[in-house]
Amino acid sequence: MTPASTTPGVAAPPETTTLRGKDLLGIADLSPAEISLVLDTAEAMKEIASRPIKKVPALRGKTVVNLFFEPSTRTRTSFEIAEKRLSADTLNLAIASSSVAKGETLADTALTLEAMRPDMIVLRHSSSGAGHLLSRICRSAIINAGDGMHEHPTQALLDAFTIRERKGRIAGLKVAIVGDLLHSRVLRSNLHLLTKLGAEAWICGPPTLIPPDVARFGVRATSRVEEAVDGADVIMLLRIQLERMQGAYFPSLREYFNVFGMTRARVRLAKPDAIVMHPGPMNRGVEIASEVADGPDSVILEQVANGVAVRMAVLYLLAGGAEHEEAA
Ligand code: CP
Repeated sequence: MTPASTTPGVAAPPETTTLRGKDLLGIADLSPAEISLVLDTAEAMKEIASRPIKKVPALRGKTVVNLFFEPSTRTRTSFEIAEKRLSADTLNLAIASSSVAKGETLADTALTLEAMRPDMIVLRHSSSGAGHLLSRICRSAIINAGDGMHEHPTQALLDAFTIRERKGRIAGLKVAIVGDLLHSRVLRSNLHLLTKLGAEAWICGPPTLIPPDVARFGVRATSRVEEAVDGADVIMLLRIQLERMQGAYFPSLREYFNVFGMTRARVRLAKPDAIVMHPGPMNRGVEIASEVADGPDSVILEQVANGVAVRMAVLYLLAGGAEHEEAA
């Protein structure tokens, strides 16, 4: 299995054929060359989904544990499908019926699973940095499937894959990210990735939902959605995360939709061939109108489909990629 191509439109990164780290904890840790390697490998992985038999032996004999302490539809199922397509043995720990319900800690849960010698642990947890904790105490490769308000690296990688597939490049594109910026791990991973690959990122939301630390990314921040989407190549919407809000960040959901909701009229301010993205799950009628979510510019279900290929690429590369296959 070899990477499919280099990234069109991106200044040629130094070539790399492996990921440096044992784990994938965040985009912050990846170089532009490593990001391109994942995207190129995902191109090759995507072809497998079009075969009559969607399975390759790349991870035969490897065991992957999926450990989701927070709800998930897309990430959990696409990791499981990716693992199965690579022939890994997979185990999904049902948290509610596990000893976590008796008070067992994350660390003890991980060490217990680790004693059974899995090769990789895919972790979603409400605490920022949960993956870093497991990385320190586990021999297995840890893949962060979303940690609190910190990072969701595979989401940003599948977003970049989708943008690159549609636009042929990432560098130089105007990407407007609109929504609940403050609570979003998807935002942080995307800002790391988009700035590393040379996109022009804009963020937009109520002033109360603009994180104070975004200045370090060098992105443009505005509370005028028309300014954010004006001439944009990509409009990326983020869910209003009511479950993470302690107070009132805006007067009402109706007010939010009136001021920031992505309607067809607002999409028309972007480039004629702009694409509309959303990591899901969506609040229809809050951050996005149904006519946009289901409209011709939406690539939301393409993002879901690409999630499988990107997660296959991450699993494959962390297992050692072609070096692992040659040794097997
Ligand atoms: N985008 C995303 O992480 O969706 P899920 O919560 O359904 O996994």
